[in-house]
Amino acid sequence: MSASRPAAVIVLAAGEGTRMKSRTSKILHELCGRSMVGHVLAAAAELEPRRLIVVVGHLREQVVEHLKETAPEAVPVVQDQQNGTGHAVRMVLEQVGSLPGTVIVTNGDHPLLTGATLRELVSTHEREGNAATVLSTDIPDASGYGRIVRGGGGDVLAIVEHKDATSGQRGIHEINVGMYAFDGTLLESALKRVTTDNAKGEEYLTDVIAILRQDGRRTGAYKSPDWIETQGVNDKVQLAQARRQLNDRILEGHMRAGVTVIDPATAWVDVQVTAERDVVIHPNTQLHGLTSLAEGAEVGPNVTLTDTSVGAEAKVTNAVCVGAQIGPEAIVGPFTYLRPGTRLAARVKAGTYVEMKNAVVGEGAKVPHLTYVGDAEIGRGSNIGAACVFVNYDGVAKHKSRIGEHVKVGSDNMIVAPVTIGDGAYTAAGSVIISDVPAGAMAVARAQQRNVEGWVERRRPGTPSAEAARRAREDR
Ligand code: UD1
Ligand code: MG
Repeated sequence: MSASRPAAVIVLAAGEGTRMKSRTSKILHELCGRSMVGHVLAAAAELEPRRLIVVVGHLREQVVEHLKETAPEAVPVVQDQQNGTGHAVRMVLEQVGSLPGTVIVTNGDHPLLTGATLRELVSTHEREGNAATVLSTDIPDASGYGRIVRGGGGDVLAIVEHKDATSGQRGIHEINVGMYAFDGTLLESALKRVTTDNAKGEEYLTDVIAILRQDGRRTGAYKSPDWIETQGVNDKVQLAQARRQLNDRILEGHMRAGVTVIDPATAWVDVQVTAERDVVIHPNTQLHGLTSLAEGAEVGPNVTLTDTSVGAEAKVTNAVCVGAQIGPEAIVGPFTYLRPGTRLAARVKAGTYVEMKNAVVGEGAKVPHLTYVGDAEIGRGSNIGAACVFVNYDGVAKHKSRIGEHVKVGSDNMIVAPVTIGDGAYTAAGSVIISDVPAGAMAVARAQQRNVEGWVERRRPGTPSAEAARRAREDR
């Protein structure tokens, strides 16, 4: 049975998260290219709720700003004082009004949660006709969690918080994950009757279960078989564990779709990265943001790509690329840095100790060694000799260089922008090119060489060089 669209998903994110020991709100900590709350919102979005509400409180400016940037459809609701999870949901209903229909409530610090699990929760809730359905799971060490108390027939009677539980109840291994489906109208009525008569002196959302039971309503649970997925993050150890889990899940998805990952332990791939079949990811590779890898592309070892597209059959090794486009069959690396605005056409080579920024390089052009290309166009088939600098900055403004097609720039050239080198032109090694070179010309822009005969024997007598010079002279 498929789940219908819920009236709302409410994400609880007002808590302090003290164990993170951070200036940054717990739920804004990042893993695999998204904040913790971003992962929860992405799972929630799969249900297509009519409203997406995030309860904010502690460090709320940060959280609200983050939501504006990354999830503008989410509506923040402020909970001024964190008087408990029940209080948080009550504040939502007071501020946005009643929410008739199915209302999902979830903690904001469960980044491994999937849309599929939420859908199971909602369809169990609807199939059983429950007033409330809790997501539960069996966990080896249940301490700290709310325990699911079941009646003789197996139905859910209550959730008892660890601090309030009897020693018998503490023996229960089925825990409340912190996600629920409610009938919105019945939830509102029950929340008005939640007290603070408990160990923490807070309004517990979990008390709603027993209250609805007393009203004669049906309450149930969807028990998730995957307790790892339901883990929350409370400190940076758990954050690292969750990142590892999420990364493994992402890599598994790519491998099942035909990507070869040589070493899953050292390949880190953000959620939004795409990779086509026969891509190979070598060890120690980080793929961030909106990076995409086309069929047969090979990246790594030791590569970090951010918002970079790699064309089919291209190879990138030992490189850092940010905001770059790498064409099909291009070769990048080893030891290459491509910065934003770099666009390499098909079969371009950007070689060793080469840095490029805002550089558009035409098909088959080569920049093989020790070169900086900034704010430039290089036409197809051109070759830039070793150790060239595109001198784009005069201390005040950036200027542009234009290199035509099939140009051969000699080694150790300074291309002082703004300057244009015409199609098919050559430049001599060691040139400082400060004015335009016409198509087909050879530009020589360096001092004439002068040899001072016999200088070494006269001025460096007795040195091995002078001895070598003497032997050479006597042999002549
Ligand atoms: C809660 C559950 C517990 C469950 C556990 C799972 C209650 C009473 N208990 O306990 O049964 O096993 O989660 O992790 O709900 N929050 C607010 N406003 C508040 C208080 C909390 O927004 O006033 C938010 C927090 O930011 C967090 C979530 O609610 O995202 C859960 O709060 P937390 O204090 O961690 O509850 P637990 O004691 O862990
Ligand atoms: Mg908690």
